[in-house]
Amino acid sequence: MIKTDLLTGKLVRLVAVEPETSSTAWARWRNNSEFGRLLDTMPATLYSTKMTQEWIEKHIEDWLAYEFNIQMLKDEKVIGFVGLDGESMSVHGDTFVGIGIGEPDYWGKGYGTEAMQLILRYAFMELNLHRVSLNVFEYNERAVKSYLKAGFKMEGREKEAMLRNDRRYDILFMGILREDWLSTNQ
Ligand SMILES: CC(C)(COP(=O)(O)OP(=O)(O)OC[C@H]1O[C@@H](n2cnc3c(N)ncnc32)[C@H](O)[C@@H]1OP(=O)(O)O)[C@@H](O)C(=O)NCCC(=O)NCCS
Repeated sequence: MIKTDLLTGKLVRLVAVEPETSSTAWARWRNNSEFGRLLDTMPATLYSTKMTQEWIEKHIEDWLAYEFNIQMLKDEKVIGFVGLDGESMSVHGDTFVGIGIGEPDYWGKGYGTEAMQLILRYAFMELNLHRVSLNVFEYNERAVKSYLKAGFKMEGREKEAMLRNDRRYDILFMGILREDWLSTNQ
């Protein structure tokens, strides 16, 4: 176990976020409003590569150490990101995870679930966290299924917290405890 590369799976590996190259990809991904509306409660908006690079550089010291790009093993294409929120990592051993595969052609093929499994291994086996939390929108059924597969449990919901396309949706809260992760990953 100790000899296993924590950040490499069967399909993808987690790699460093390089501000110069990553900003081009991140800006392109965020310019797809469908992607923006799956990720964020903020109004979907457009970001230039320059703005994105500045944002990455500004945050690099705060939390980027726990932020990775998701790279395909077969051809090294970078398809998304996954990260643990360093700012909200607390003395209680809890933090939030965020994930986004920015290339829509790569949705629904198991890559995101594997990337989530890798970051959970990192969270529990390297950072020694007690739990990992996330929020997801009710309409993001693909994400909910993926998180359940990765071992998250549904913990609650903020009812009708979102208004999109003239309809109200709940924000769902999911979490995974260290002991539950260990019971299926040891
Ligand atoms: C959420 C995300 C990380 C999941 O990763 P993924 O690689 O696409 O997930 P998987 O392929 O492992 O699993 C998706 C599951 O949803 C199902 N699914 C795929 N498309 C779906 C859709 N449009 N509606 C409902 N279910 C869908 C798949 O069949 C699969 O379930 P199964 O394994 O039981 O068959 C990825 O899709 C993504 O980044 N999407 C865009 C951004 C986003 O939503 N980020 C999360 C914000 S909380």
